[in-house]
Amino acid sequence: MINIAIDGPAGAGKSTIAKRVAKQLGFLYVDTGAMFRAMALYFLRNHIDLENSELLKNESGKITVELRFEGGEQQVFLNDENVNQYIREEKVGKAASVIAVNPAIRSRLLEIQQEIAKKNSVVMDGRDIGTCVLPNAQVKIYLTASSKERARRRYEELVAKGEVCDINAIEEDIIKRDYADMNREISPLRQAKDAVLIDSSAMTIEEVTDAIIAQYRSIKA
Ligand code: DC
Repeated sequence: MINIAIDGPAGAGKSTIAKRVAKQLGFLYVDTGAMFRAMALYFLRNHIDLENSELLKNESGKITVELRFEGGEQQVFLNDENVNQYIREEKVGKAASVIAVNPAIRSRLLEIQQEIAKKNSVVMDGRDIGTCVLPNAQVKIYLTASSKERARRRYEELVAKGEVCDINAIEEDIIKRDYADMNREISPLRQAKDAVLIDSSAMTIEEVTDAIIAQYRSIKA
């Protein structure tokens, strides 16, 4: 099996790019952030204190998170309910980042992620894929962009949906989330030693996709 790991901060374009790379190569695209988001959704729905690590550990025993692939598209199931449409909200992303520091939650999800990558050729994106989840991935990419550019992209997305928002507040949120993801004790967001750095600030989606495919071809050659 071929494993391609893509890590990087929020809003760097990982999912858009990973999806395209997976499609071109005929691999599964695995979005690990969605699994943390599904767990976070459970805690939010049940009004559980996200900072209480003992409670999170106990409660996480009641949760099953499962990925199913329908027509090649990842669907996330939380206790057998398809929650894909509920996990994209900003508040769920923020809560996911808070609970992602919890060792019990990380180890539960790690097992599922490794199992999928063992059985399938995947493009997997997240924060710790190249460093922890798939240390032997054949291709590792660290995809980033400036916080200004990431905020601008997010702003454009929201405006296109007709939402009113403040670009400076979006950038502040991005910087806060980067800080939390890069400075937690377990599996912080970090560029793996053997990862290729791609800064997409001034690149198109096609250029980034092509750069990753070229990396893959170079290991096959
Ligand atoms: O990529 P995303 O925005 O969907 O991820 C949401 C949060 O989940 C992110 O801020 C941190 C956490 N996460 C993680 O800790 N490890 C991963 N492999 C993926 C996501």
